[in-house]
Amino acid sequence: MFWTLKAAKPQLSIATSADSIALAFAKDSEGVVSFSAPGNLVQDIEKFFEINLADELSFFSPTYKSGELFEIPVSSQDAQTDRIFLVGVGDSSTASLRIAATTIARKVRGKNTTVYSACAMNSKDVKAHAIALTLGAYLWNLKTGEPAGKPNFLVATNEKEVIDVAIAISKAITRARDLVHTPSNIKNPAWMATKAQEFAKGTGLTVKVLAGKELKEFGGLRAVGNSSPKPGPRFIEVGYAPSKKKNAINALPHVVLVGKGITYDTGGIVLKRPYDLMIPMKSDMTGAAVILATLTALEELQPNIRVTALMMCAENAFSGTAQRPSDVITHYGGTTVEVTDTDAEGRLVLADGLAYADKNLDPDYLVDIATLTGSATLGLGKQHAAMYTRDEQLARDLEFAGIESGDRVWHMPLVDDYRDALVSDVADFNNIAKKIKYSGGSIIAALFLEHFAGNRRWVHLDIAGPARSEADAGENPKGGTGYGVRLLTQWIMNLK
Ligand code: BES
Ligand code: ZN
Ligand code: ZN
Repeated sequence: MFWTLKAAKPQLSIATSADSIALAFAKDSEGVVSFSAPGNLVQDIEKFFEINLADELSFFSPTYKSGELFEIPVSSQDAQTDRIFLVGVGDSSTASLRIAATTIARKVRGKNTTVYSACAMNSKDVKAHAIALTLGAYLWNLKTGEPAGKPNFLVATNEKEVIDVAIAISKAITRARDLVHTPSNIKNPAWMATKAQEFAKGTGLTVKVLAGKELKEFGGLRAVGNSSPKPGPRFIEVGYAPSKKKNAINALPHVVLVGKGITYDTGGIVLKRPYDLMIPMKSDMTGAAVILATLTALEELQPNIRVTALMMCAENAFSGTAQRPSDVITHYGGTTVEVTDTDAEGRLVLADGLAYADKNLDPDYLVDIATLTGSATLGLGKQHAAMYTRDEQLARDLEFAGIESGDRVWHMPLVDDYRDALVSDVADFNNIAKKIKYSGGSIIAALFLEHFAGNRRWVHLDIAGPARSEADAGENPKGGTGYGVRLLTQWIMNLK
């Protein structure tokens, strides 16, 4: 992990023990400029360093946009601090405090330095700000030579428990990002299982892995994953239950999460074209990575909910054992599907997971999360997940958790008129829309999945957009963002 995060008391002596201090500034609707920090920190710091923050700020002609950062050199024999970061927090909203955190983090990313941030005032903002500090400081590479340094973030608050929550979530997002960034010559379905076991070791999480003949009934997972028979696909079931209620888990609400875990998506025999579309496809296991990481966060947070994560892991390779366009496969539970497009493989592995959950796990909530369709991003862009559900309450709860956590969702329609796009002449369904007249590829994929979710309270999250960032900017590195860890953790914490 390229950061450490701690709660620090809002006191001058602690602030001045850090290498730098970050303070928020904003201008209200009447044009009044103010600096805010918990307690008397602003006045104490001005007095201690004999500076006037308003004068210092006006020198830079600020625009008052969130994330603006000005650096003021300071010195005192009695302080470690040699810099004050004046950070714009715009409208002082939670979202603005996240943006402010990412500029602070990017200033110190890869450096062995301690930053004391006193930008956030209430517990909700402290949590969001603290998590965003770690997100902006994220680094991943396999470069040889000197390893990068680690910034140490001290967040000013009297509520240590809020920072404990932030640490659990930040660690989980970092883990998810690390899994996604790992290239596919290193990660394969067996490697994903090893990671699940590694994360679970010494915790209360349980891990069950099915491989080879044990996957007999998982026709979708096998059809995709046998394109890469060494080591072949894996079904990885990770279980969380609160440690105090392990004997009474059947009385708890049960959430089942199903994640797409394609460790590389070449498209299969229907090879992705042009080839530059293929290069980002090591991130096609984001759904599986995110649900695993979410369980590691829940294990630390201990909500009174039972959660099972089903990681549907397979590589979609271009090979002699790959499935052919026109194959008919039998999914878990018996539904048959004609595979017309081997690049629409995500829905095939998810279908098995959903059907398995419906048959064996009696979920109160069934949520799948997947980098499923490029078309999800066409209208929606890359900031929101495309969310599909017929359950209005569930949609509202996830929307709320999305806004609260920063991982936003957008409720999309399950358009029944498009169902006949999936009709096959030879099987129960076709895996793609034969009649292209409908467009709406993300909607049609959702309609396909819905069949396998039975009558459960089901939500499908198509995260093809937010799972990856094309730019190293704000909260995100270039590549895997870990989108979904904050959303799912928040939603589950709100359920308890
Ligand atoms: N993994 C891709 C979806 C994807 C595309 C994720 C771009 C992230 C960025 C998925 O398996 C796929 O190839 N989907 C096809 C579906 C089509 C064949 C119906 C797509 O989106 O084009
Ligand atoms: Zn594909
Ligand atoms: Zn895919």
